[in-house]
Amino acid sequence: MYCIEAKSLSKSYGNVTAVDSIDLSVESGKIFGFLGPNGAGKTTTIKLLTTLIPTSSGTINILGIDASRDPLGVRKKIGVVLQQPSYEPNLTVEKSLEKYGMMWDVDQKTRRKRVEELLSAFDLKDIRKKKNDDISIGQRRRVQVAREFMHDMDLLFLDEPTVGLDPSARRGLLDYIKGKVRDGLTIFFTTHILEEAEYLCDEIAIINHGKIIAIDTPEELKNKFGREKTIKIHIGNVENLSSILQGVGSYEISRDEGTVITIHSADSEQVLVKILQVLNSNNIPVDDLSVVPTSLEEIFLTVVKNSDTNSGVKT
Ligand SMILES: Nc1ncnc2c1ncn2[C@@H]1O[C@H](COP(=O)(O)OP(=O)(O)OP(=O)(O)O)[C@@H](O)[C@H]1O
Ligand SMILES: [Mg+2]
Repeated sequence: MYCIEAKSLSKSYGNVTAVDSIDLSVESGKIFGFLGPNGAGKTTTIKLLTTLIPTSSGTINILGIDASRDPLGVRKKIGVVLQQPSYEPNLTVEKSLEKYGMMWDVDQKTRRKRVEELLSAFDLKDIRKKKNDDISIGQRRRVQVAREFMHDMDLLFLDEPTVGLDPSARRGLLDYIKGKVRDGLTIFFTTHILEEAEYLCDEIAIINHGKIIAIDTPEELKNKFGREKTIKIHIGNVENLSSILQGVGSYEISRDEGTVITIHSADSEQVLVKILQVLNSNNIPVDDLSVVPTSLEEIFLTVVKNSDTNSGVKT
């Protein structure tokens, strides 16, 4: 079953097309990652899917509910943490959680239990009595994300939830999210941190200039766009290396402690074999050899750059 189904979804602000006829389907129980450069249309998409702003055209179905017919019905079943900070300056951390639970009509006993659970899961126990005004920006973000878990929901939208979080808080949040997904929650999540997307997401969509330019599992994205491998061969200092290696294909040489030959192309393996043959026949020993797998970050940059070139946008 799909939790989110959007067809030909568009949103324009004046003459800016922020979201340009996108199709999305997100299966329930999955973590869907939404990536893209600044201004690509991620936040606008989240606001459309959560019924916070009206669409210009297209249809949205959330958890089986037609969003244009019953926006309130949608809102009751989802959670959303927006990119924009939101907090009540004069409330303490624990009161913020408590009040959020009350807003959602969570009964007192459940509220108490959840407040304790979240204070501990988000490492907020030590500052539970402090006012939001008197805590750090990262701590405030943790409160903002934590309070969303006060209520029951089937689907949660998170717009860059980890911005401003230190590495351990970030990992804590990602693991907390993973646990919730195991219990049946579906997550729609945006981030700029690609390791995060790789760690968390079952499926990833990349959006640029309002259009989805790639959508797949992290593994398939790597298969499709990550054919280029980087291979590094470490050898000692050799004179005339470039003349020795003439005709083996494309590579780069850098000298630091010793010499590193870097091969980066779609036919890296073939070039590697040739170089090793030449080194061997010239009695040049190889000190070290490493293959660097393509990262999601490289794929992201390639895909976004290609789509800019194809759409005639200057970069
Ligand atoms: N309220 C608005 N009025 C006019 N234009 C807007 C408005 N909100 C967003 N835009 C424009 O729509 C486009 C998409 O913005 P959006 O906030 O969705 O991008 P984003 O992918 O979330 O970027 P970021 O990574 O910086 O958060 C941008 O060109 C932005 O300037
Ligand atoms: Mg945004």
